[in-house]
Amino acid sequence: MWRGFTNDILRDLSMQHIQEKQNWLHHPRFSEPERVLVRLEGIGKSYPEEAGDGVPILDGIDADFARGALTAIVGRSGSGKTTLLNLIAALDRPDRGRVWIGDTELTGLTDEESTRFRRRHIGFVFQFFNLVPALTVLENVRLPLALNRMDDAAGRSRALALLHRVGLSGRLDAFPDRLSGGERQRAAIARALVHRPLLALADEPTGNLDHKTGQEVMALMTAMVREEGLTLIMVTHSPEFAGRADRIWRLHAGVLALPE
Ligand SMILES: Nc1ncnc2c1ncn2[C@@H]1O[C@H](COP(=O)(O)OP(=O)(O)O)[C@@H](O)[C@H]1O
Ligand SMILES: [Mg+2]
Repeated sequence: MWRGFTNDILRDLSMQHIQEKQNWLHHPRFSEPERVLVRLEGIGKSYPEEAGDGVPILDGIDADFARGALTAIVGRSGSGKTTLLNLIAALDRPDRGRVWIGDTELTGLTDEESTRFRRRHIGFVFQFFNLVPALTVLENVRLPLALNRMDDAAGRSRALALLHRVGLSGRLDAFPDRLSGGERQRAAIARALVHRPLLALADEPTGNLDHKTGQEVMALMTAMVREEGLTLIMVTHSPEFAGRADRIWRLHAGVLALPE
């Protein structure tokens, strides 16, 4: 389990080496090491009306997520996993604390800026697929390209290549309601990666699939994330799927911890 992580770190270190050399050329001092893609600092969040007086869902979360690593977040239902993922995706804001992705402090952006950042740099895979019902498979996958003005010939061939990779070449013109759950999630994975985001987030991507289909979807998603050299943070209930990750965080009582 740690071998993949070590390889990623080694690759990151050599990239970092090049980066640092460049930094030397442009800056009098080193800038921050580039190993960390996502940094959470002192994140707190509560939903007063649901949680009752002063019971925070997230209560001082500090964590770093390495570039190129696959991270799993596990925790009981209701422990705040989706809340946390939504904060990392800038779909929601914490009450306190900071979220950094690379050099960008998400918590310092306006709503409009964070929407633009999310569209460009984040790919999200949801439990319930969230495909647009009125668009075909190919149109769903082209959507992030269109939103980023990347829907040119190169973008379209990338969409087709990814749909081929996920085994949906024969279903390009199908509407989502014609697809099985596994096919929907495979289309959603292509959609999440098509615009070459910095960060892929997945919230119980197998939670609505039978076990065998879940295994296939998880194997496909992790393989593609590796192929693309992407950083993935996924929430999962399954110890088996969490075991595929380079690192596992457990969310419990409002804080993230590395299990012993
Ligand atoms: N938009 C919301 N408004 C009020 N309460 C919420 C909202 N979203 C989540 N909660 C509450 O916050 C807690 C954590 O929810 P969630 O992040 O969805 O947990 P998980 O994904 O780990 O199951 C739950 O008690 C849930 O009821
Ligand atoms: Mg959830």
